[in-house]
This record gives sequence, C-alpha cells and structure tokens, in this order.
Amino acid sequence: MVSKKKKKTSQPRLLKQRTVNSFPISFFNSHVAMLRGCYYIGIVLILGSLIMNAQAAKEQMKTYKRVMLKMSGEVLMGEGEYGLDSSTVKRVAEDIKQVVDQGTEVCVVVGAGNIFRGVAGAAEGMDRTTADYMGMLGIVINALALQNALESIGVQTRVQTAIRMDSICEPYIRRKAMRHMEKGRVVIFAAGTGNPYFTTDTAGALRATEMDCDAIFKGTKVDGVYSADPEKNPAAEHYSHINFMDVLTKDLKVMDATAISLARENDIPIIVFNVKEKGNFAKVVASEGKFTIVTN
Ligand code: GTP
Repeated sequence: MVSKKKKKTSQPRLLKQRTVNSFPISFFNSHVAMLRGCYYIGIVLILGSLIMNAQAAKEQMKTYKRVMLKMSGEVLMGEGEYGLDSSTVKRVAEDIKQVVDQGTEVCVVVGAGNIFRGVAGAAEGMDRTTADYMGMLGIVINALALQNALESIGVQTRVQTAIRMDSICEPYIRRKAMRHMEKGRVVIFAAGTGNPYFTTDTAGALRATEMDCDAIFKGTKVDGVYSADPEKNPAAEHYSHINFMDVLTKDLKVMDATAISLARENDIPIIVFNVKEKGNFAKVVASEGKFTIVTN
C-alpha cells in the first residue's frame, strides 16, 4: 500500500520536471528550425530571381535576333579628311564580329561620304543623277573594304549590290541574302537602293524591312539624339527614348524623312548610338550603355 502511494506521487513530479527543464531547449530548437526554414526560403528566392534575371537578359538578347547596322562612310575615314583608314575599318569589323559572336545576325549598309557625296557633286554643278551613281560606286568600295576586314578576322561575309557588277560581287537577291544571314554570314548591301535621289539611310531602312530586321542600329559620332547639337550647346538634352512622330515633327535629324517613314510604317525601332567607340555596338545591342531608341 505504501509503495503504491509512493509510485502515484512520483510520476506527476517527473513529468513536471521534464516539462520545465526542456522548455528553453525546445523553444530554442523551434526558433533554430524557423530560422533555418527562412534561410532556405531566402536561398530559393535568391536563386529564383537570379534565374529569372538571366532569363530576362537572354530574352532581351533574343529581341535582337537580326539587326541592320547603318553607318555613314565618314566613320571609315577615322581621323582623316577623306578615304579609308585601315585601322578604323579593322576596328569596325571587330565590333561587328563581337555582335555576330553574341549570336545576333548582322547586315550592314554603309554610306560613301568618305569617298564621294552625290549631293556635294550636284552642288558643284554636276548632274544629280550622275553624282548619285558616283556615290553608289563609292559605297561599293567601302563595302569591299569592310568585307575584306571582316574576312581577315574570320567572319564570313557576302556583298550584294543593288547595281549589277557580277565580276565584283553578288547582285541583291532578297531570299539569298536571308539565307546567308541564317548561316551566320554578315551581308553587306552595296550601292544603296540602286536609284538616284535616295540616301543610304533610305537604303538601310528598306533593306532592314526586306530582311525582317528587329532593329536598325544607326551608328553616328554621338551617343544618341539630343534636343540641340551637343557639341554647340552643352545644355542640350539627351533623349533615351523618342517616337517617330517627334523625330518628324521636331525635325530631329535621326535619319532622312523617307527612312523614318519606312521604319515607322514597318514598326522597326531605330537605335542611335556612337559607333566610333570601340565595342559600343555589342554593348548597345545588349541594351547597355548610352543610346536613343526611336519607336512608334
Ligand atoms: P550557299 O552555298 O547558298 O550557302 O551560298 P554561297 O554564297 O556560298 O554560294 P554561291 O555558290 O552562291 O557563292 C559562292 C561564292 O561566289 C561566294 O563568295 C559569293 O559571294 C560568290 N558569288 C555568288 N554569286 C556571285 C556573283 O553574281 N558575282 C560575284 N562576283 N560573286 C558571286
């Protein structure tokens, strides 16, 4: 009887003791578990956002599957007064290679201001049509120089001309040009549109439309479009984004009106950037650095 009584009283005491002693440990353990849970959730969230950012960057790159590079001929003369500066032509070729290596298809339209300007010839009394054809021949010279520089660094190219000169290069054939680009070749479109009274800007917009380009990259000596000439007016405002109507109504000299209208009608954005800065073309294609984008 006595021993039974003892057993009954000892049990609840033991239980009580365990509860009191284990309280801080279980409290501590549950908090550690909670913190550990938060830690794992945090890692998952960080990893998720990293993956999403990488995917977004990839998507952005994908946006520019095929681009048109429109450059004035003056870019190729470097610091010279006229003609071709071989180191500048090589640098431009390297810049194009960077973009090709990023997986973007590139086609190029170049001007001939470094060799002959049809408008200037006409101003000096020359027949405008003849002067424009001379300008178109100047473009072919620039296209061949660029082709040579690109091929010397291992970039496959094809020159297609709007004016037939079969012993020098291929004639312009849209479907063939598309095929070349699908194979990773850089297609350089020479001789403008093949017609007088049209600029190489118009040729750039026309070929970009025909080639289903995602954007026209207009390479200039400045890093975008400003409210005024930034060289003359330091207070000029840089536009990061403008629309085609503003370009036309404010006469912002991005490209000539025919080229702007073509790009606008076909909804092809124009990106104005500084092509004189080494490596900038690839940066701007990756939506980095300073530039102006013109859209509808
Ligand atoms: P695919 O074989 O279709 O992938 O293209 P490809 O350009 O390699 O083949 P193609 O046989 O058309 O051209 C072979 C070479 O000849 C290339 O360097 C072309 O630029 C060049 N070529 C093609 N057509 C003409 C042309 O009419 N005139 C000149 N001068 N070269 C041409």
